[in-house]
Amino acid sequence: MSAATKEFKKVTTASVQEMKKRGEKIAMLTAYDFTLARMVDQAGVDVILVGDSASNVMAGHETTLPITLSQMIYHASSVVRAVERALVVVDLPFGSYQGNSKEALSSAIRIMKESGAHAVKLEGGSEIITSVKRILTAGIPVMGHLGLTPQSIYKFGTYTVRAKEEEEAEKLIEDALLLESTGCFAIVLEKIPAKLATRVAAAVHIPVIGIGAGNGVDGQVLVLHDMLGMTHEFSPRFLRRYLHLYESITGGIRQYCEDVKSLNFPNESEQY
Ligand code: KIV
Repeated sequence: MSAATKEFKKVTTASVQEMKKRGEKIAMLTAYDFTLARMVDQAGVDVILVGDSASNVMAGHETTLPITLSQMIYHASSVVRAVERALVVVDLPFGSYQGNSKEALSSAIRIMKESGAHAVKLEGGSEIITSVKRILTAGIPVMGHLGLTPQSIYKFGTYTVRAKEEEEAEKLIEDALLLESTGCFAIVLEKIPAKLATRVAAAVHIPVIGIGAGNGVDGQVLVLHDMLGMTHEFSPRFLRRYLHLYESITGGIRQYCEDVKSLNFPNESEQY
């Protein structure tokens, strides 16, 4: 099908904002490679996040801290090659934007130039606002990320629910308003009380996408490998597994091993 005859409209930062206005929920998932990104896009997901969770699910690291900018660009360009409709957002990895807004801008420019992605995501509020501002001056759309911010795991010490106390909740609301007024086009809220997330979504005009933040927000995001049941060690309360691919995949591979060993594969019709 040529670009001119395609039946869908590409999702843009403006169209997700329109979705919030219309009250239409936004479906977002992560992807890190060509094959799965193609399925995610064709199944109708609005926003694909090339998350730094690639550090965990693709590379097997315990945290998101080790993944590098070049590795994120490799994953993002694989995803971009697969996607026709969704908006592709890429995480700026740990160490590529904090504390130095010039470096933040050059990291974001590398992602946009080398991967062809449409926007970047940064973790944090007032602490990183000069980086956010500088990236925005280059015309690069920025998605914020508040609440549980895994790049700060060694500051928090645990992956438990954030902003349960009034002081942290108030700071989170201020940060969300600050990200909005600075020009972010959307915000992810991770693992915070549903009531607080609902308050934030009502307080800002930009879309708020939740993960472990209840259903009073404008959309949801999950890590693809978790919702497909490819990972099975990780079972937070907010995770709904739509498939159980760990069992299906290992079962299929076990069967293949048996068939090879018993000479059941290949059979007559599977050879030349
Ligand atoms: O890296 C990631 O997958 C994320 C989501 C959990 C929002 O940031």
